[in-house]
Amino acid sequence: MSSGNAIGVFDSGLGGLSAVKEFLNILPAEKIIYFGDTGRVPYGTRSRDTIRKYAFQDAQFLLSRNVKMIVAACGTVSSVAGEALEEKLAVPYTGVVNPTAYTAVRKTRNGKIGVIGTAATVGSHSYKLRLQKLNPDVQVFEQACPLFVSLVENGIIHRDDQITRLVVRRYMAELKDNGVDTVILGCTHFPLLRDAISDYMGEDVTLVDSGFETANYAAKVLKEHDLLNDDTSVKQPEFFVSDTPDGFKSVAGLFLGRDMEHTVTQIDIEQY
Ligand code: DGL
Repeated sequence: MSSGNAIGVFDSGLGGLSAVKEFLNILPAEKIIYFGDTGRVPYGTRSRDTIRKYAFQDAQFLLSRNVKMIVAACGTVSSVAGEALEEKLAVPYTGVVNPTAYTAVRKTRNGKIGVIGTAATVGSHSYKLRLQKLNPDVQVFEQACPLFVSLVENGIIHRDDQITRLVVRRYMAELKDNGVDTVILGCTHFPLLRDAISDYMGEDVTLVDSGFETANYAAKVLKEHDLLNDDTSVKQPEFFVSDTPDGFKSVAGLFLGRDMEHTVTQIDIEQY
């Protein structure tokens, strides 16, 4: 059976659009329905219970649009609510932690992996636990980088920007001193800071993008379940947010790496 239903992707805000960018590249014939909880972002500073409640509401909204798969394109949700979502959802689900950890373990040469994410992600040790399950010999160094989310949401991302460089150095110095050769960008906002992070860490350090890895993994899951679309015409994504859609276009363009025609609709997420 092949399904024309959409793939549902959500994030606490707009960071998950870095995964949508990859979906549009890899699976142009799939329709993407994206929900960004812009009215309640950030999740990364909230309690486990709140993050879980929000994650289930977000998934419920996507299910109401009849999606065939749900992707939590959010390091925080994947870390704190991933297992519960996987257990309860009736459609295939993936978060970002497992596919990203898998790639990092394959990429490291010296066995020293850095993980950067929100406070909730790092506090859950989700990536560390997964990495050490995949290879008990790897050493994992974790660093919460809450200001990165604010920098990205405010467009302060350029590699030459003094503020960007300062914050990157502040957060990344210890990982650099510890000699990591691979860094997991464990939050879907962080790929936008890739250039600045890479300038500081040096080109020998591999940066693993959780959005990219997750989109590739989701494509594999859909193929295995025979859920890829039969109709090969290119589909336009549909976007939903929980706060005003004003300004969405310019910020979305940054994450998606292109300007595109799309509809953005505001919904009341508390109804789900
Ligand atoms: N995109 C979220 C993540 O991947 C970070 C933003 C937030 O704190 O909600 O963790």
